Amino acid sequence: MDSRSWMLLEQEDPAWRLPDDLRQRDPIAARDCGWVEQMRPFIRQFSRPGELVLDPFCGFASTLLAAHLEGRAGLGYEIDPARAALSRERLAQHGATAQRVVADDLLRSPPQGSVDLCLTSIPYFGSRWASADPAQLYASADYARYLEQVGEHFRLIRRLLAPGRYCVVMAENLQLDGQMLPLAWDLGRLLAGQLQLCEERILLYRKPPEKLPHLAWRSDRSHEYALILRNQAAAPDPQQGLAVLQAMQAAGLRFAVFGSFAAWLADEAQAWPADIDLLLPAEDAGVNALLAWLQGQGFALSCWQQALRLPVRLADYRGRYYFRAERVLRNGERLRLDLCFELDEGDVAERLLDARLCRGLPVA
Ligand SMILES: C[S@@+](CC[C@H](N)C(=O)[O-])C[C@H]1O[C@@H](n2cnc3c(N)ncnc32)[C@H](O)[C@@H]1O
Repeated sequence: MDSRSWMLLEQEDPAWRLPDDLRQRDPIAARDCGWVEQMRPFIRQFSRPGELVLDPFCGFASTLLAAHLEGRAGLGYEIDPARAALSRERLAQHGATAQRVVADDLLRSPPQGSVDLCLTSIPYFGSRWASADPAQLYASADYARYLEQVGEHFRLIRRLLAPGRYCVVMAENLQLDGQMLPLAWDLGRLLAGQLQLCEERILLYRKPPEKLPHLAWRSDRSHEYALILRNQAAAPDPQQGLAVLQAMQAAGLRFAVFGSFAAWLADEAQAWPADIDLLLPAEDAGVNALLAWLQGQGFALSCWQQALRLPVRLADYRGRYYFRAERVLRNGERLRLDLCFELDEGDVAERLLDARLCRGLPVA
């Protein structure tokens, strides 16, 4: 792969194309099958020979075949059993029998150990696929639920991905019922909440052009995005974080610092903190005052990638553990605070009471 932000895909190599007999057995004639060629450059760029490539939505195993051709191991998940069987047949025809296809959802049958690269084409929203399985993303009834389900998969993928390693997701914006649905862009924002969004590449497929009538806007949609993400948290600038926390304290807001930022406060010689975690009082008024203050300082507020609307009722967020506040300044400075309002072990209120001052800030 070179530094160009686009890649032109001229022709599918017949040697790796999904054979017609397999294609005809699929209920939608494998219209959603990608090209092996589109995956190979990403496999070469973002993994080493012998490493493990995961495709959580593997369809007809184009990614696993590409991994095989590049000398990588492949693990795919395909929820539709007939498609999973078809994938195995295709792989066998190429002697790629070491690649593994699990006929299930990743969340229901997660693998042991870590993976070195996650490479996938996202199942699109708005497909007419019918399924009794509520996890089949092609059958999601509404877009909000669809994005939530996709988010759940990538939360697990982040945990499976080896530190510092990449996740490449192919996606398109869609035309649905005559309107554009910016799926690729929504996905970029959603996944950037879990992994570090590094770049995008645009994949272009050559199609013969047609002249458009005057004022017509619809294109032939012969491109897609490859979103490149990395399992690496951008370390916060601790001095910038400190300044915001001091201002919060001066404004009379209740919170305590914990985790790696608390360790850095106690001993600045420590490595830079990985993130800034705060404990909030577990009552609505204090939490809303703090959130409103942050919003006034330019922070965007969310909970599990969903924007927050103030005031919040903590009772509505039980089991979600934390809110997130993120600010990007015009000079590029970014700050993210994770605001925890419940804990698996121990009581937030008690830990706040026990907080002691460390460099002027309460530390739990
Ligand atoms: C875009 S297709 C993948 C095509 C694949 N890249 C290829 O070229 O062979 C997406 C696939 O995801 C599958 N799928 C949808 N929801 C799933 C889920 N929750 N777990 C696993 N597979 C899922 C669909 O059945 C579909 O086959």
